[in-house]
Amino acid sequence: MTGTTETTGAGGPLVRVTGVGKSFRGLHALSGVEFEVAEGEILGIIGPNGAGKTTLFNVICGALTPDTGSVALDGRDVTGSAPYKIARAGMVRTFQLMRPFGTMTVLENVSLAAQHERMPAQRLRDRSLDVIERVGLGSYAYRRATELPTAGLKRLELARALAMRPKVLLLDEVLAGLVPAERDPVLDLLADLREKDGTTLLFIEHIMAAVMRLADRVLVLDQGRMLAAGTPHEVTSDPRVIEAYLGEEPVTGDAGEEPTHADS
Ligand SMILES: Nc1ncnc2c1ncn2[C@@H]1O[C@H](COP(=O)(O)OP(=O)(O)OP(=O)(O)O)[C@@H](O)[C@H]1O
Ligand SMILES: [Mg+2]
Repeated sequence: MTGTTETTGAGGPLVRVTGVGKSFRGLHALSGVEFEVAEGEILGIIGPNGAGKTTLFNVICGALTPDTGSVALDGRDVTGSAPYKIARAGMVRTFQLMRPFGTMTVLENVSLAAQHERMPAQRLRDRSLDVIERVGLGSYAYRRATELPTAGLKRLELARALAMRPKVLLLDEVLAGLVPAERDPVLDLLADLREKDGTTLLFIEHIMAAVMRLADRVLVLDQGRMLAAGTPHEVTSDPRVIEAYLGEEPVTGDAGEEPTHADS
């Protein structure tokens, strides 16, 4: 694996995944997955449908306990800890299938997420409105979540995660379902999160132009195994990655009409 691995205050990577394996009734969804992510780094995770990407996030964030291996956050073993505890420790994820509370307003949805930390009502409201503004949903704050179009639901999902002020943010296909013109503002926001807030990002994405633009390093999963890891250019020119996932289409850094590599 290439790329720098800066040390954190605790003297190691911010996220360390070691030898993770997870099976579902004989299906090896993950085997021997291991990697490190430094503070402030952006790691892209790619691979075909069913490669184990979402399962990896489920293991990292505590929704699933791995059969083997471990996950450490800032040097602390969090393997199998409850998701809310991991979120409190600073690692928060978004869901591939959004699950907002449809009957609640955008502000109520975001406030509910922000509430994982106790704070006075006014501060909770201010923080939630700030985040809503930041993701570009300002004009929807008092509308019901059910009134949001797909792009709005994606932004709401992001706002709910940001309201928890994560040190590490895991994004599961935040661009899926967005038309190219809707993607750029989200990518700008993610770049901004790293620049201004120092947020460390792990993002699963099928839109390769976004991966090329945002990722410092890329991890490629295939049938639960790590097929490759390296810079975006290294992995996209790796014949094994081209064969298993990319095909022969050219991969550019232009986040325009780039084809995606999955239908989800
Ligand atoms: N809770 C579960 N029970 C049984 N099988 C599961 C479960 N979760 C995932 N799987 C299986 O594990 C494999 C990996 O699934 P996963 O959702 O992690 O893939 P993915 O890489 O996120 O795919 P996609 O790109 O389609 O989102 C698949 O074969 C899937 O059917
Ligand atoms: Mg998935």
